[in-house]
Amino acid sequence: MPEQFPPDNSERPVKRAHIKSFGCQMNVHDAERMADLLAREGYEATENADDADLVILNTCHIREKAAEKVYSEIGRLRVRKEERALEGKETLIAVAGCVAQAEGGEIIRRAPTVDLVVGPQSYHRLPDLLKDARGRKTIDTDFPDEDKFDHLPLPSKKRLMARGPAAFLTVQEGCDKFCSFCVVPFTRGAEVSRPVEAVLAEARSMAEAGVKEIMLLGQNVNAYHGLAADGSVWGLARLFEALSEIEGLKRLRYATSHPRDMEEALILAHRDLPKLMPYLHLPVQAGSDRILKAMNRKHKAADYLAIIERVRSVRPDIAITSDFIVGFPGETDADFEDTMRLVREVGFATAYSFKYSARPGTKAAEAEDAVPEAVKTARLHTLQALLMEQQNAFNAATIGRTVPVLFEKPGRYEGQIAGKSPYLQAVHVDIPSGDEISAWIGRIADVRITELRSNSLHGEIVSPLGEADRGGMAA
Ligand code: 5AD
Ligand code: SF4
Repeated sequence: MPEQFPPDNSERPVKRAHIKSFGCQMNVHDAERMADLLAREGYEATENADDADLVILNTCHIREKAAEKVYSEIGRLRVRKEERALEGKETLIAVAGCVAQAEGGEIIRRAPTVDLVVGPQSYHRLPDLLKDARGRKTIDTDFPDEDKFDHLPLPSKKRLMARGPAAFLTVQEGCDKFCSFCVVPFTRGAEVSRPVEAVLAEARSMAEAGVKEIMLLGQNVNAYHGLAADGSVWGLARLFEALSEIEGLKRLRYATSHPRDMEEALILAHRDLPKLMPYLHLPVQAGSDRILKAMNRKHKAADYLAIIERVRSVRPDIAITSDFIVGFPGETDADFEDTMRLVREVGFATAYSFKYSARPGTKAAEAEDAVPEAVKTARLHTLQALLMEQQNAFNAATIGRTVPVLFEKPGRYEGQIAGKSPYLQAVHVDIPSGDEISAWIGRIADVRITELRSNSLHGEIVSPLGEADRGGMAA
């Protein structure tokens, strides 16, 4: 999202920073936090990498393809850095995110144009690291003792508002699950929960700035166990109860979760807390118990199905979404058929599916029974066709219904506004003639869904402005 903000000190020449994020929502949010910090250092955000004094590639290491993208990006940046040097301009190139954490100094050996490598736990040190990087190649991939969140500035009200009414809040980082295919426990480290008060304080300041919807983020967010002021430990359900009491906040969400941590209290929160949206992203990865065991998922297909049944028993309309990996080492046609059966049984609202990619350092990378690439491709197509059918069916079922939509930004066309349903579906509507788009942003209105076009729903506002006002961004 483009951002414009004034430098802290107008006497100083404006420096421009471009941050490009790959991968998950955590990276998107980390980039926002880095931008907040850089604003304090006098950097203005730019959409144009060619024009930037500082380029940060916020990288993803989850699959080989994602990790390799970094090097092609660096190749392009090197050319521009050399051109700018001829114009007498300095360009710093930083690699952040999970590739930085996983590869460290190797990045600079392979791509000497890179000035700084910074892991996700060290973003709060960016100002000092950038100073160091001016003189010499700098690498920081420590897991420092201090909590980076204590040192990262809370975004200003103005900056929060610029990002819109739906925002992210990190409550937990890292993972102790060690699924055998996954680099996250290595790149993001051990599971850590932020203290309850810190989370609530951040949520309150977000609500004050006009944020209406908060998505709690964590690599394993439903394993949240934050220390409360009285010394007790709160799980995610208790945290949602407290967040529900914050006036101004209308919607709460969370991602991403592990089936093992889907506690009864959290399931019941979906029944008891109206602000907790009917949406659950619960990756299952595969439907075969043999493969789930090899993946070290610590649950069986039946356990997953039982959780879904229980969640639906308390919140029948909930949108269930998931992640899948096809072609894990040793996956047979029968194993894959088990995955297809599980998908048919659940009926997903949306899902992400990937071909297995061996990642260095993980247990599964040692396996010798790799599935041929062509088989992986065929399975992915088969699975995605079924998931797409289910997604279309889920969306089509909304047609004719009236759902509350939180409006987030102007739509693609003049007079149109885009928002999200409780089920996280994109919804586009034409605003009533004479109304300003900006007056609708941050509001929740009832929308009657009329049609499904390619990837988004279209509808009509049922309640006019004023009546529909269950919010609005703070001025
Ligand atoms: N290969 C393919 N997909 C992977 N994922 C994680 N590691 C791998 C890997 N090595 C997928 C999982 C996870 C999602 C974020 O990425 O489905 O849930
Ligand atoms: Fe990776 Fe498994 Fe942890 Fe998810 S739960 S981050 S897939 S190790």
